[in-house]
Amino acid sequence: MRTHHCNELRKEHVGQASTLVGWVNTKRDHHGVIFIDIRDREGVTQAVFRPEENPEAAKLSHSLRTEDVIQVTGRVDERPVIDGDSTVNEAIATGEIELVASDLQIINKAEVLPFQLDKDLSNEDLRLSHRYLDLRRPRMANNIRLRHKVTKAARDFLDSQGFVEVETPVLSKSTPEGARDFLVPSRLHPGAFYALPQAPQQYKQLLMVAGVEKYFQIARCFRDEDLRADRQPEFTQVDVEASFTDPEQVISLIEGCLAAMFKAGRGTDIPLPFERMSWHDAMDLYGSDKPERRFEMKLVDLSKIFAKSGFKVFSQTVKNGGVVKAINAKGFAGITTGQVDKLTEIAVTHGAKGLAYIQARGEDPSTWRSPITKFFSPEELTAMREAMHIEEGDLVLFAADKWQAASEILGRIRLEAAAMQNLLDGKDDILDFLWVLEFPLLELDEEEGRYIAVHHPFTRPVDADRAKLEAGEYDGLRAQAYDVVLNGHELGGGSIRIHESDLQRAMFTALGISDEQAAAEFGHILEAFQFGAPPHGGIALGLDRIVMLIAGESSIREVIAFPKNNKGMDLMTSSPAPAEPRQLRDLRIKSTAQDKAKS
Ligand code: AMO
Ligand code: AMP
Repeated sequence: MRTHHCNELRKEHVGQASTLVGWVNTKRDHHGVIFIDIRDREGVTQAVFRPEENPEAAKLSHSLRTEDVIQVTGRVDERPVIDGDSTVNEAIATGEIELVASDLQIINKAEVLPFQLDKDLSNEDLRLSHRYLDLRRPRMANNIRLRHKVTKAARDFLDSQGFVEVETPVLSKSTPEGARDFLVPSRLHPGAFYALPQAPQQYKQLLMVAGVEKYFQIARCFRDEDLRADRQPEFTQVDVEASFTDPEQVISLIEGCLAAMFKAGRGTDIPLPFERMSWHDAMDLYGSDKPERRFEMKLVDLSKIFAKSGFKVFSQTVKNGGVVKAINAKGFAGITTGQVDKLTEIAVTHGAKGLAYIQARGEDPSTWRSPITKFFSPEELTAMREAMHIEEGDLVLFAADKWQAASEILGRIRLEAAAMQNLLDGKDDILDFLWVLEFPLLELDEEEGRYIAVHHPFTRPVDADRAKLEAGEYDGLRAQAYDVVLNGHELGGGSIRIHESDLQRAMFTALGISDEQAAAEFGHILEAFQFGAPPHGGIALGLDRIVMLIAGESSIREVIAFPKNNKGMDLMTSSPAPAEPRQLRDLRIKSTAQDKAKS
C-alpha cells in the first residue's frame, strides 16, 4: 500500500516516486492549489495537488475533509522558493520536501468529528467518549508509545536480573490492600463470587513457596476506591517478589529498574542511589509519608514554646500529650480571605478544629494580623518569631492536635498553600526520588477502635519487635517496609514478608481477625507456610504513575488508553451498565438446574 511512512521523506528522496497512506491532517486551498498534510503515527508530510499538472487528482482533493483516510502517490520535490521566500516548514521533520501528487485514492471518508484534534480540549468526558479519536492526537499517541517503551524497559531489566514473569489469576479471592473489592458472580456456583485482585500479593508469595525465587508481573489490579488524578479502579503494577532477599537488595534492584525505565522514557540517567528518610521524619517535617521536597516550608514543632501559654487551645493540647506545629508560607501574607477559607476548609475536613494563622505585615509582632496573637505573651511571640524565622510578608499557619494528626493536617495545608503560591512552577525537571523507610507496622483506627496494617497484613515486623507482636503488645511496632517516592507521589511500596504460620496468625490476631476467619479467608497461605516457605519480600511499582511523571502529565488518565472518567465510568462503551436479561438468565438458569439436581 505505502512505500514510505509520513515522517520518512527527506531531501535525499527528491526526484523519487512515493506512495503515502494516512489521515487528512489539514487541508489548505491557495488559489486552486490544494495542500494536504497527510498524517500517520510517525508524523506528517505535505502533498500538493496542482490542477495544471494533474486535474483529476486536484479535483478530487477539493472534496477531502479532515480525517479522511487517503492514499497519495506522487513525486518527491524540494519545497520551492516563491518571490525570494523559502517555503520550507521548519516545524516538521519533512518540511524541506513535498509530495507532488499524481494520484489520490480516498480509502474511507470521515464524518465531521465531535471535536477538533488539533486543539487542546478541556472537556475530558467528550474526549473519553470518543477516545479512539482523542488517541490520534500527537500528545496522546506519544504517551501510548512512551508507555510501551517504559514497560518494555522494566520487563527487560527484570529479565536481565533473572526474574521470571508469571501471570496470576484475575478471577481470584479477596486480598485486602485497604480498598473495596470488585466481585464477579459465579454461574457454576450460584451465590458464590470471585474477587478481582487488588494486587497479586498472595499469589506472588505462594509462588515463592513454589520455589520460583524471582517473580515479576506487569499486573492489572482492581480497587473499588474513590478516584483521583493518580488513582483508577483498574491500574497496573510492576509487581516483584524474591526469596532469600533483604530490603537492601530490593532497594537496589528497584533503583536499577527505575533507572532503566527513566532512561527509556526520558533518555536521562537518574542519579543513584536515592536519598532515604525515615517515616517519622517524613511525617514530622513534611506531614506526609510521600514528601514533596521541591520546596521548603517544613513543619516546625512549637510545643515547648506554647506549653504554658495563656492560649488554652495550644497549652491544653500540649498538656494532653499533643503538639503545636506550624509552617511558614514565605511571602504569602497577602493571602486572600477566600484562600484562608479554602485552607481552613481543608484543615477541618481532615479533622482540625480550626486553622490559626498570622499574616506578618512587618517584622514586629505589633504589625501582625492574626486571630490568636493577642493571647500570646511577649516572650512567646519572640520565641515563635525566631523558631519560625518570621519576616515581613510571611504567613504562618498552625495546627494543634496529636502529633500525627497535626502533622498530616499541616502536610495538606502545606501542599495547598504551595499550589496557591505556584511554588512548583519551573520545577518540572527536578526529579526528587526518595526512599521512605522505618514504617510502623500497625496503626490504631480510632473510629473502629482496632489496629489496621499500615502496609498490609503480610508485612514482617523488624526482628526486635517480633516477640512483642506475638505477645500482643501492639504499640510502636516497626515494619520491614519501604516506599519509593518521586516528587510527592508514591511510586511503589513493598516489604519483607512473614513466612511462618505462627507469626502470620499473630498478625491476624493483632488485626482483630479471629482464628476461624483467618482459616476461612487465608487458610491457603497459612497452610502453605507450613511446607517449607522460604523467607521472601518484594515490592510493587505503580506503572501508570511512573509513566505519568515521565510524560509530564498530571493525571494517569492521560497515559492509559481507555481509562475510566472521574466517576468510574467508561463513557465510550457506557460501562458499567445494567446486566442484560440474557446475562442474568445465564446465572439463574444454572441455579435452577442445580436446585433441581439437588432435590
Ligand atoms: P500498594 O497498595 O502500595 O502495594 O500498591 C503499589 C503501588 O501501586 C500504585 N497504586 C495505584 N495506582 C493507580 N491507581 C490506584 N488505585 C493505585 N493504587 C495503588 C501506587 C502504589 O505505590 N501488594 C502490595 C505491594 C507489595 O507489598 O509488594 C501493594 O499492592 O503507585
Ligand atoms: P477559638 O479560640 O476556638 O476561636 O480559636 C482561635 C483560632 O484558633 C481560630 O482561628 C481557630 O481557627 C484556631 N484554632 C482552634 N483550634 C485549633 C487547633 N487545634 N489548631 C489550630 N488552630 C486552631
